[in-house]
Amino acid sequence: DTADLEAHFEATIADKDRIEPRDWMPEKYRRTLVRQIAQHAHSEIIGMQPEGNWISRAPSLRRKAILLAKVQDEAGHGLYLYSATETLGVTRDDLTERLISGAQKYSSIFNYPTLSYADVGTIGWLVDGAAICNQVPLCRTSFGPYGRAMIRICKEESFHQRQGYELLMTMMRGTDEQRAMVQESVDRFWWPSLMMFGPPDDASPNTARSMAWGIKTHTNDELRQRFVDMTVPQAEALGVTLPDPELAWNEERQAHDFGEIDWDEFWRVVGGDGPCNTQRVAHRKQAWDDGAWVREAATAFARKQESAVTD
Ligand code: 3HC
Repeated sequence: DTADLEAHFEATIADKDRIEPRDWMPEKYRRTLVRQIAQHAHSEIIGMQPEGNWISRAPSLRRKAILLAKVQDEAGHGLYLYSATETLGVTRDDLTERLISGAQKYSSIFNYPTLSYADVGTIGWLVDGAAICNQVPLCRTSFGPYGRAMIRICKEESFHQRQGYELLMTMMRGTDEQRAMVQESVDRFWWPSLMMFGPPDDASPNTARSMAWGIKTHTNDELRQRFVDMTVPQAEALGVTLPDPELAWNEERQAHDFGEIDWDEFWRVVGGDGPCNTQRVAHRKQAWDDGAWVREAATAFARKQESAVTD
């Protein structure tokens, strides 16, 4: 009966074991997983736009090939994650409609424009770097399909972060103009990268429940701190200054103190009023509408195949 099912679910979570799609799960557990995994998938797909902007403008064939590979990876990450969400009984059509209507979110970071080529490196270094901090723990999330999707995604994120850092290192060894372009890009992306980890723990409605269910294994602030501590030495090696005068090593905490994030900006961008929100969603809607005939044709073909087999 339900009490036994609940007890088994709780025991599985307590043993840090995996919940699989066929297992009984509380409806709220299923719903919060659909919420988080779908929004993660939306982030990957929308994230193709800012970088895609530079594929036709890359300065060399090598840089173009690397960027093309990365953007294609992001599409693949979106597909793995939508597949993990479908195991919870939702359809991709439904999720895409929720993204386009604004009923579901995607990561705020992708609502900022990519104004210079250095942004391609900065996104790899900072945005994919932040994503790694946030996604490595998710490899051990309690829902099986999500954790397994994360293992493949994290391997590819490491390539994304490395290629971005190498791109910036190359520019820093170039001209003064290139060094200035890198610094200007870092100035624009540093604070929005910190916002990727979500609101502070004391303003996070989902964290407590997600931690109790083993969906999250660390809180937003813990992972944000880990990202700052990892990135400061990388910035020093690169020779760029992170745009936070309060950033300083705290010997007692064995961690870096850093300035206050502009949470008004965060909630404004999350709420749809960032620099590129309208453009990003309109572009996604256009792609979805333009692809309708492909989906219809594939579905019709699949039906013909099925009827050929069953006749
Ligand atoms: N952008 C947009 N919305 C955000 C956000 C952000 N940076 N941070 C938080 N939010 C939303 C949450 O979704 C939640 O709204 P909802 O209840 O309607 O979903 C609300 O703000 C409150 O935040 P919480 O902290 O309570 O929500 P969570 O417990 O879900 O924590 C999270 C937010 C840390 C982003 C968590 O959902 C998570 O770890 N998600 C999986 C990782 C992910 O989505 N990463 C996106 C990064 S982009 C990426 O990975 C692509 C890579 O290739 C660069």
